[in-house]
Order: sequence, then structure tokens, then C-alpha cells
Amino acid sequence: MSADVTLEDVKQDAGIEEEEEQIDLAPVHRIIDSLKETKGMLIPVLQDVQTVYGYVPEEAANVVADRMRLYRSQVYGVLTFYTQFHLTPRGRHIIRACSGTACHVRGGKTVISKLEHMLGIGHGETTEDMFASFEKVACLGACGLAPVIMIDNDAHGTLDSVKTERIMDNLREMDTMKRAE
Ligand code: FES
Repeated sequence: MSADVTLEDVKQDAGIEEEEEQIDLAPVHRIIDSLKETKGMLIPVLQDVQTVYGYVPEEAANVVADRMRLYRSQVYGVLTFYTQFHLTPRGRHIIRACSGTACHVRGGKTVISKLEHMLGIGHGETTEDMFASFEKVACLGACGLAPVIMIDNDAHGTLDSVKTERIMDNLREMDTMKRAE
């Protein structure tokens, strides 16, 4: 990527719309202030930024570049190279469905279809109400429980369509209750 390519260009290429909210950038400054030295720290800094915001906002990426004396294109290069980084806000829940072989042969496709149908989104997308983001992944490392999904940090195994529906209904209910608190 050349030095004059910005995250805006990357987002435009990917068809991602700009978010309009003002972002509090104080946490980004705090993250960088806490470093003894910045050399080789770009990825850990971006990871910390993503932990704070749930994704890496463009304004935060620009602060990181400016404060760490890097070209913005260097920062955007890292952000777009590593799939762990997200450039847009993600849902309150991250739902990962395994599409690996063990899960596939034990009915993973049905589970994935059920999730996509219930959420109304596909791989890499987030529901409009920010309830959840959905991803298909190669293997969740729990093949003995196939087919498996992860909801946030919890694994749910030996799923079928009915069980998946029940889990998702519970999640929706818990989410609604939590938001009403
Ligand atoms: S193949 Fe699904 S958890 Fe490994």
C-alpha cells in the first residue's frame, strides 16, 4: 500500500459507510502514553484500541499513526492485513459458527443456515440493531463437540436447528433484559 492511501480509501473500496459519531480519543492517547517505547508496538497498540472501542475507528488509527510517528498507510496496512482487526463497529455479541470438516459432516451447514436466517445477515456482517456480528470460521478447536458455535466467549456444541434456535432466543432475551436495566 502506498503512503498516501488512507483508511477512508480502504473503506470506500470495501463499500463501508462512514460512521458519524464523535469518538472520544482519550483512551488512545492513554494507551500510547503508557508505553515505555513505541518501537514494535503497533500491533499491541491496535489490539488495545480495538479492545476499548470494539473496533479500530479511523480517527483512532490516525492518532496512533501520528503519535507513533508512522505513515498512516503503515497503520492501515496492518489493519487491513490482519483479520483480527475490524474497521467498523461490531455487534454487542460476536457469533462464530464453525464451517470446518468435523462440524460440516455433523450438520454444521444447517446450524449456519439457521443462524443466518435468524439474524438476517451473512458472514462478516452485523445486524442493523447492533445485536450481533456473525462470522464463519474454519475450526473452533472443539471438533469433539461438532457442530459448534461460539457466542462471545462461550462454546455451544452438538447443535441442531432446534437447539440453535433456543440458544439464539435466549441470547436475544438476555440482551433485551440487559439493555432495559
Ligand atoms: S471442525 Fe468445527 S470445531 Fe473443529
